[in-house]
Amino acid sequence: MDAVAWGIAGFGWVAQDYMAPAIAAAGHRLAAILDPDPSAGEAARRLNARVCASLDELAGDPEVEAVYVATPNHLHRPMVETLARAGKAILCEKPMAPSHADACAMAEACQEAGILYRTAFDQRHHPAHIAIRDAVAAGVIGAPTALRIVYACWVGPDWSACGSMGGRENWRIDPRKAGGGALIDLAPHGLDLAAFLLGEPIEDAHALTQRRVHPYTVDDGALLIGRTAAGVFVTLHVAYNCPEALPRRRLEVVGSSGQLVACDTMGQDPGGTVELIDGRTGAGSPWPVRDGHVSPFLNQVAAFGRALRSGEPDDDALAHDLHIAWLVDRAYAAARPPAAAGGAP
Ligand SMILES: NC(=O)c1ccc[n+]([C@@H]2O[C@H](COP(=O)([O-])OP(=O)(O)OC[C@H]3O[C@@H](n4cnc5c(N)ncnc54)[C@H](O)[C@@H]3O)[C@@H](O)[C@H]2O)c1
Repeated sequence: MDAVAWGIAGFGWVAQDYMAPAIAAAGHRLAAILDPDPSAGEAARRLNARVCASLDELAGDPEVEAVYVATPNHLHRPMVETLARAGKAILCEKPMAPSHADACAMAEACQEAGILYRTAFDQRHHPAHIAIRDAVAAGVIGAPTALRIVYACWVGPDWSACGSMGGRENWRIDPRKAGGGALIDLAPHGLDLAAFLLGEPIEDAHALTQRRVHPYTVDDGALLIGRTAAGVFVTLHVAYNCPEALPRRRLEVVGSSGQLVACDTMGQDPGGTVELIDGRTGAGSPWPVRDGHVSPFLNQVAAFGRALRSGEPDDDALAHDLHIAWLVDRAYAAARPPAAAGGAP
């Protein structure tokens, strides 16, 4: 496959630390970026990428075939609408948008333009999750009955991604920019992963939110329960209020004859462990993961490149992404408003 020439809109933490290395590792090329932050421009120039002065310049760049959108959430919609109209293929970070209405407008723009659009659900590309999906489909745990995910981290009021990105504004806790807090940021990953692992979407979902630890206006934790068409329960516990030294990334798929347990596989990096627990004896044994060292972002870039070159229609993927935006939006709207931090639940 010939190399895809990428643009990146929003060259911050996830773009610099994960997407740019994945583009290089996949044998693709980073051609141009758009980001008003001078340090982002400097980082791009070190990678021999052009720095565009405006969205129109990036959208009009004839060399750029595909654009990865990794701005704060409220900018996903204007970025995607403009880039789609310009005919660019788009990989847009999760959440697709702060609201279902914005996500619908983005989907309409992509369909009208006939471009390839994917939401960047990198966790379905994690080698451990691919191994679990295959094991579930092969009947290794019998009939799946429940999927439980804990995906938590610590996002204090002044949090910003570490390393070279330190000192940036924490847009994640600004409801106008993020669309919410822990629920909208972290739950889309789990909802997509659940559908991927179980081979069917979640039909219905409900949420409770909390503001338990941090003194900001958005939720710092949320519980979400859902059910698939076949009746499998899905529970997600997502949080911004969990110290990072605690166990905080766990995934369990329970079935009628066994259980698969993954630790530390949720996140941007490869690695973690997968164990199969036998439903008759309770004995656990490691479950093999093929190519366990490969970055989920590398797998994601390679899959996007294959989809782009195949030219296959993409309506199912877009409908899936919209469904997730709808589940989150509706569950959020119906969630009991969280009490103030430290207050009674
Ligand atoms: N898939 C994942 O695992 C994962 C991980 C982290 C973040 N994300 C998502 O990626 C997106 C970015 O998150 P982040 O942590 O990298 O944030 P960040 O704050 O580190 O980076 C965002 C970048 O967007 C830039 N930006 C702001 N306004 C812009 C504009 N008008 N035009 C172009 N660039 C602009 C900022 O200068 C910044 O460099 C969010 O949607 C987030 O939810 C996904």
